[in-house]
Amino acid sequence: MTEANLMTDAAEKRAAAKPHLPDAQTVTSVTHWTDRLFSFRVTRPQSLRFRSGEFVMIGLLDDRGKPLLRAYSIASPSWDEELEFYSIKVPDGPLTSRLQHIAVGDEIILRPKPVGTLVLDALLPGKRLWFLATGTGIAPFASLMRDPETYEKFDQVIMMHTCREVAELEYGRQLVEGLADDPLIGEMVGDKLVYYPTTTREPFHHMGRVTDNLSSGKVFADLGIPPMDPATDRAMVCGSLAFNIDVKAILEGFGLREGANSEPQEFVVEKAFVGDGI
Ligand SMILES: Cc1cc2nc3c(=O)[nH]c(=O)nc-3n(C[C@H](O)[C@H](O)[C@H](O)COP(=O)(O)OP(=O)(O)OC[C@H]3O[C@@H](n4cnc5c(N)ncnc54)[C@H](O)[C@@H]3O)c2cc1C
Ligand SMILES: NC(=O)c1ccc[n+]([C@@H]2O[C@H](COP(=O)([O-])OP(=O)(O)OC[C@H]3O[C@@H](n4cnc5c(N)ncnc54)[C@H](OP(=O)(O)O)[C@@H]3O)[C@@H](O)[C@H]2O)c1
Repeated sequence: MTEANLMTDAAEKRAAAKPHLPDAQTVTSVTHWTDRLFSFRVTRPQSLRFRSGEFVMIGLLDDRGKPLLRAYSIASPSWDEELEFYSIKVPDGPLTSRLQHIAVGDEIILRPKPVGTLVLDALLPGKRLWFLATGTGIAPFASLMRDPETYEKFDQVIMMHTCREVAELEYGRQLVEGLADDPLIGEMVGDKLVYYPTTTREPFHHMGRVTDNLSSGKVFADLGIPPMDPATDRAMVCGSLAFNIDVKAILEGFGLREGANSEPQEFVVEKAFVGDGI
């Protein structure tokens, strides 16, 4: 047997030794951003169609061989050949304590039934679109920021992302900064996308909670734009339950109404996770 044959044989044995997952997709890349955050890409089922901003259930098998699934926003746009996800690492989290160890070539379970409210169809036509996120809540907007339809429908798109620390902004920063040179949508994005990242617990050039920067008018002053107006502004919100509740009240204060797939209005909301604390 040649050396090449031996290597193929070993790879086949390794693959056969792995349990075959239902709805399996293969990991194609993994990037660790901090000790709490990572992103990864997987193969895309050929039949999977989704609208940018939607989420799917993904997971692994648990110790008893049962699927352990969690909701995950698809962070890649609907035209991408692969699927990207941006994930928290919860130290004792049933799924993410394992998921954080995936490597290229591993399989994950992906149930191909996308759903969600953070879709462009759930908003009435407008001029400015606000993406308001904390933490991993940027994931659905990582998809929408890369979707040509976003820029066809809106003249200006403002991405407000807030994290505790600067390093937690890095995934979003690299994504936004790479868009201008993106061969597929760079031209469409042009200068329409405005990025407004802030931190709350580490010094940064812009600081403060999304809620405070909206209610004080700081973000409008910093960007030199008029305050939100229901005639022109639309918004999508994704963060913790507390964040969503507080932002909703502020948007309603500007006169915007919450919509849904079935009844488009001026803003939509989705939880970035369920629960009150790690
Ligand atoms: C609609 C929807 C979309 C989601 N999309 C994403 C996504 O794109 N990326 C992602 O990382 N998670 C996302 N989540 C959360 C995800 O479903 C899981 O909760 C997460 O992967 C942790 O799983 P776990 O089993 O390790 O811990 P769990 O038992 O699910 O969670 C344990 C605790 O960790 C905290 N927690 C869970 N997820 C997060 C988070 N993302 N950020 C901060 N704290 C968290 C909560 O307090 C929770 O009670 C989404 C949740 C929903 C409802
Ligand atoms: N990020 C970390 O370094 C870290 C480390 C260990 C454990 N954890 C735990 O992990 C969980 C999730 O942490 P996370 O940092 O991803 O999410 P988070 O605690 O919800 O905070 C994310 C960002 O959202 C802001 N925020 C929180 N509630 C808000 C509200 N109601 N309105 C407006 N802004 C709001 C926070 O500002 P403030 O800073 O002002 O709250 C922070 O900048 C938390 O339970 C936390 O205790 C986090």
